[in-house]
Amino acid sequence: MTEQVDMVIFGGLGDLSLRKLLPALYRSELGGLLAEETRILLIARKVSDHDSELARVHEWLSSQLKSSESASSHWPEFSRRIEFCALDVSDSDERWDHLEGSLNQFPNRDRVFYLAMPPSLYGTTCEQLSGRKLISDCSRVVLEKPLGYDRETANAINAQVGQYFPEQHIFRIDHYLGKETVQNLLALRFANIMFEPLWNGKYIDHVQISLSEEVGLEGRTAFYDQAGAMRDMIQNHLLQLLCLVAMEPPHKLQADNIRTEKLKVLQALRPINGYEVQSHTVRGQYVEGTMQGKQVPGYLDELGEDSQTETFVAIKAHIDNWRWSGVPFYFRTGKRLKERCAEVVIQFKSLSHNVFENPVGHLEANRLVIRLQPDERIQMTVMAKELNKFDIRLQQVPLNLNFAETFDNIRSDAYQRLLLNVIQNDLSLFAHRDEADLAWAWVDPIIDAWSQCGTPVQAYEAGTWGPDASAALLHSDKRAWHNNGGSKRGKR
Ligand code: BG6
Repeated sequence: MTEQVDMVIFGGLGDLSLRKLLPALYRSELGGLLAEETRILLIARKVSDHDSELARVHEWLSSQLKSSESASSHWPEFSRRIEFCALDVSDSDERWDHLEGSLNQFPNRDRVFYLAMPPSLYGTTCEQLSGRKLISDCSRVVLEKPLGYDRETANAINAQVGQYFPEQHIFRIDHYLGKETVQNLLALRFANIMFEPLWNGKYIDHVQISLSEEVGLEGRTAFYDQAGAMRDMIQNHLLQLLCLVAMEPPHKLQADNIRTEKLKVLQALRPINGYEVQSHTVRGQYVEGTMQGKQVPGYLDELGEDSQTETFVAIKAHIDNWRWSGVPFYFRTGKRLKERCAEVVIQFKSLSHNVFENPVGHLEANRLVIRLQPDERIQMTVMAKELNKFDIRLQQVPLNLNFAETFDNIRSDAYQRLLLNVIQNDLSLFAHRDEADLAWAWVDPIIDAWSQCGTPVQAYEAGTWGPDASAALLHSDKRAWHNNGGSKRGKR
């Protein structure tokens, strides 16, 4: 059971709230995790009468929840928590009185202000809240990405919000950090004796982080065409994952300690400047292709105009510190790729000496695959003897920890976990302002160099693993993407 709070969602009837936040809160209700007094105040510019809005929320919940999660069983309790409030944050009119009156019924209760709205409105909203004296010492604010377009705009947004909320009350959501297996990565690294001694350039050949998606634009044309894959996925999700993979063990698994270690990784990330983008990065854009037997349109057809925005990025990066010296980190992310998959691959080095005599089969180096989605699992490939053979013959076999198969009732709602952390005032899975700043400081020069060098987007067919240049980026280092083409997929 969590603290009792007033959860105020600006953009309360918008897409994010209906698709992610309310289902996550309802799941917490199903799990008995919301304190009895916790209230949910949904703020929207237009609100019709209470009952019809409530019916709309219920309908959305039913469409978003899995069949095993009944949208009705706990609806009476859940719906009692909900209040609606019509408000245009840019007008300081009497409609704020309603919110003020409602919140001031419980002046000592913790308040969570979730800004599920465009960042251009963050400053105004915080200013209004402050003007109405609604920000107490026990208030926190939750910010959604995209937090800015580049380092400068991100800093401006952070500075605006920072005028009203201290940093320790600002929760910057990166929903990847709420995924079950991301936390398992920490458990794997810091709760087992066998990985940490090997977690360095002496034993690791290289690391891959892939975030591949099957979806295309999904109607988000204006936003996505401004952002592209670099700002949409690399600047936040991918670099956050990198930090958790590469950071030094924190003194304690608490927010400040984790954040300090993550910052050191971002500081050590070697800049990619000027013409280095030609050899270290690949930009791609999907064209028409076939996905699961269906023809899908290309990016430009979906967008309806010409554009040089990248829907795919691959990067070869380095972390210049003692632990990772000489270990390349390969990143890739893209839309309309062959499979939806998010995974971290730790490729160990080959053995320096082979005691087996030929012919026993080829000795493959060990590999650890941490799969975040869709099927959450951790897999280690090891060499073993082939069964039922008199002579020794070696083969590569997976040691497989498949969470969905091993544990019943696996709950993997990242938003639920993150919202509960906000309610409990736990910042450990949220990015500090300095992390966001350093991530932009690494990403911005690459984007600038692309435009200065005129780096074109390379076409790739929807339903493939991206442009040929992505495979070539690794081939030139005599390496290959894991699972490329799905051909090397291990047993599930
Ligand atoms: C969002 C991006 O942050 O993450 C989207 O804006 C992307 O473009 C989404 O589709 C991917 O999230 P997930 O959890 O589906 O991998």
